[in-house]
Amino acid sequence: MSLLDRTFAALYDPAMARAERGELGERRRQLLRDSAGHVADVGAGTGVVLDHLGPAVEKVTLIEPNPEMAARLRRRARRGLADADGREAAAKAVVDVREAPAEALPLPDDSVDTAVSMLVLCSVDDPMRALAEIRRVLRPGGRLALIEHVAAPGPTGWLQRALAPTWRVLARGCRLHRDTGSLLVAAGFDVSDVHAWRLPGGGPAAHAIAGIARPR
Ligand SMILES: C[S@@+](CC[C@H](N)C(=O)[O-])C[C@H]1O[C@@H](n2cnc3c(N)ncnc32)[C@H](O)[C@@H]1O
Repeated sequence: MSLLDRTFAALYDPAMARAERGELGERRRQLLRDSAGHVADVGAGTGVVLDHLGPAVEKVTLIEPNPEMAARLRRRARRGLADADGREAAAKAVVDVREAPAEALPLPDDSVDTAVSMLVLCSVDDPMRALAEIRRVLRPGGRLALIEHVAAPGPTGWLQRALAPTWRVLARGCRLHRDTGSLLVAAGFDVSDVHAWRLPGGGPAAHAIAGIARPR
């Protein structure tokens, strides 16, 4: 584990706090409030997703390959799901943390109702493999809730390409100019409920997509 990995994990929540309190948190909540049954968050980071899940969720699997992030997740998981809506909430939901990459999900076939990929597909080394894994673990009728920053067209795209090598080092593997929307389609997802979005405070990574993708 490098010093940069540790620093990235330590700074992640403070760096995101403002966006999480605003539009980003609101978008997460919109996409996740109807989730139920088994939710699997791929590249779960510090476990922000737990603040946005609804009362029908019974089990949450937080999957994260960075050991420093996974340690934070274990601490966060002990608090369970947040009672975001002031209801009795899914306080009884089981929260499990698994240290693994998206390319090899530690879950059986057809076992997940909602997979979550938020600000993750930019970082995985093999996004097509990761999307195939997500398809494998989703139950028939299951869905993928996603927020991803993506390659921008025009001058912003040129800027992204110029910044990409430095960005990749500082943001721990994040590819600034990845066309994740096209990858979703190539991986066999219906993206009719996935829309262009702007990531608040995202700078050169503000060009984004958000929505619900479903295996075709
Ligand atoms: C920008 S953070 C996003 C965290 C969280 N999903 C969120 O929305 O706050 C990206 C996360 O992806 C993780 N990651 C990097 N490579 C990965 C891979 N191959 N599989 C799964 N997660 C990965 C990183 O360790 C990091 O926790």
